[in-house]
Amino acid sequence: MERVAQMNALPGRKGILLAGGSGTRLYPLTKASSKHLLPVYDKPLIYYSLTTLMLAGIRDILVITTPEDALQFRNLLGDGGQWGIRLCYAIQPRPEGLAQAFTIGRDFIADSAVTLALGDNIIFGSGLRERLDRAAARGDGATIFGYRVNDPGRYGVVTFDGNGRAVTVEEKPADPKSNFAVIGLYFFDNRVVDVAARVTPSGRGELEITDVIADYLGRGALHVEQFGRGFAWIDAGTHDDLIEGGAYVQALEKRQGLKIACPEEVAYTLGFIDAQQVLDLARPLRNSGYGAYLERLVQDG
Ligand code: DAU
Repeated sequence: MERVAQMNALPGRKGILLAGGSGTRLYPLTKASSKHLLPVYDKPLIYYSLTTLMLAGIRDILVITTPEDALQFRNLLGDGGQWGIRLCYAIQPRPEGLAQAFTIGRDFIADSAVTLALGDNIIFGSGLRERLDRAAARGDGATIFGYRVNDPGRYGVVTFDGNGRAVTVEEKPADPKSNFAVIGLYFFDNRVVDVAARVTPSGRGELEITDVIADYLGRGALHVEQFGRGFAWIDAGTHDDLIEGGAYVQALEKRQGLKIACPEEVAYTLGFIDAQQVLDLARPLRNSGYGAYLERLVQDG
């Protein structure tokens, strides 16, 4: 990754990292620990979505967790200062749906635009930063990303007309009308706070993010970008997803000698921290090889 000093996110755009939920699809793994803290090869799952927000130039981030897991997240991520970002924390008492992130985060968001990243998503591919920059720089409306999958019924599904414009967005349809899943990364303008406050629980009892998106679609304020071939998107919601995600990261990292979703590297590359700070972060990580990687980063410039 080439080092850059400037950021293109809309000034003041905020980020929310949603890492609550019950994780029951991963039981017993997640009985005593949050799924977001489970390993995906050489780092915790939450690093992947955190670095996605950082790559979008977002430095002010609210982490939403369950009451039980909050302390572990603080121990892992701290206040973000070590990576040149600001992390603050909020609790979601019960997993009542993704759209609740905006009511829990209302004061944090204040009058800013906001990007929501789901803490169990892994997004990776060449050119990602440019796409994120584009979405982050958009002042009005919402931007979501579509990704072709074989099993769309597991996700939010977006359909398109002949001109590639979005027509419908549905949550986990029994009979999906397209193969395009909506990935767990959503860029909104400030209106989202009011839109989310009006959403009512779905048939499965959750405040659905797809209802928020449908509101933007209905007002002609929704941009949908597609991630094409070569992009990786993994929603690490099941045992298979988790191990496939780990194997994917392992294969790429070993082959290229470059890490995916390394917050220290992203922070250094984007100019959030300097070389000396990277070396200070590397020292306690030496034993795992992660530290040696960081030292090499600085040596290689
Ligand atoms: O991954 C993309 C999909 O994520 C989208 O296509 C769907 O439209 C969206 O609803 C969501 O579906 P999932 O079934 O994957 O959602 P899940 O229940 O796994 O929750 C996603 C993340 O949000 C996960 O990290 C847990 C967290 N979460 C979930 C709920 C319901 C919370 O923090 N609070 C919640 O209330």
